[in-house]
Amino acid sequence: MLYALLKAVHVLSVILWVGGMLFAELFLRPALAGLAPPERLRLAQAVLARFFAAVLWASALVFGSGVWMIGRVAKATVQSGGSFSMPLTWTVMAGLGMLMVVLFGYIRFALYPRFAAAVAAADWTQAADRLQRLQLWVRVNLGLGLVILGVLYLAH
Ligand code: HEM
Repeated sequence: MLYALLKAVHVLSVILWVGGMLFAELFLRPALAGLAPPERLRLAQAVLARFFAAVLWASALVFGSGVWMIGRVAKATVQSGGSFSMPLTWTVMAGLGMLMVVLFGYIRFALYPRFAAAVAAADWTQAADRLQRLQLWVRVNLGLGLVILGVLYLAH
């Protein structure tokens, strides 16, 4: 029961995080492209502030629930006399998942404050440059998320 709950939390958090990045990349970015820089960059900043606040929780939940599930399976295996070895798909998910969390930390705590500062100063050239850099790393994280999902569901 607890395991099923942890897995549901894990998957819902993944949906919010990866789905949000897909939405931003596929629908929001093209729609914003038609706006003048002050509106575009202010709106992008307001959206990212909200999205990153949610991803801060989602990434912590993905990581925490993932490690917890591994711990529970390992403990149950050892208690029933077996020896635990992680399935390859779990190892790939945990490794790339941790990389995603680290990259999100870089985006949220290094790149985003610089972008927000340029928007606050109404320095649109610098804000546009910084948003582009931020988007590049979000795309990298989106790619990692999709690779994890591909490995989980296609590599059998
Ligand atoms: C941060 C480190 C992560 C760890 C330690 C971790 C660990 C786990 C574990 C132990 C399970 C349970 C598998 C099972 O019971 O079959 C699981 C399920 C799952 N994880 Fe992760 N995970 C992490 C990150 C991620 C990320 C970043 C994604 C997606 C981008 C992801 C997607 C999934 C999905 C979709 C499932 C459900 C698989 C299924 O039931 O078919 N995980 N994860």
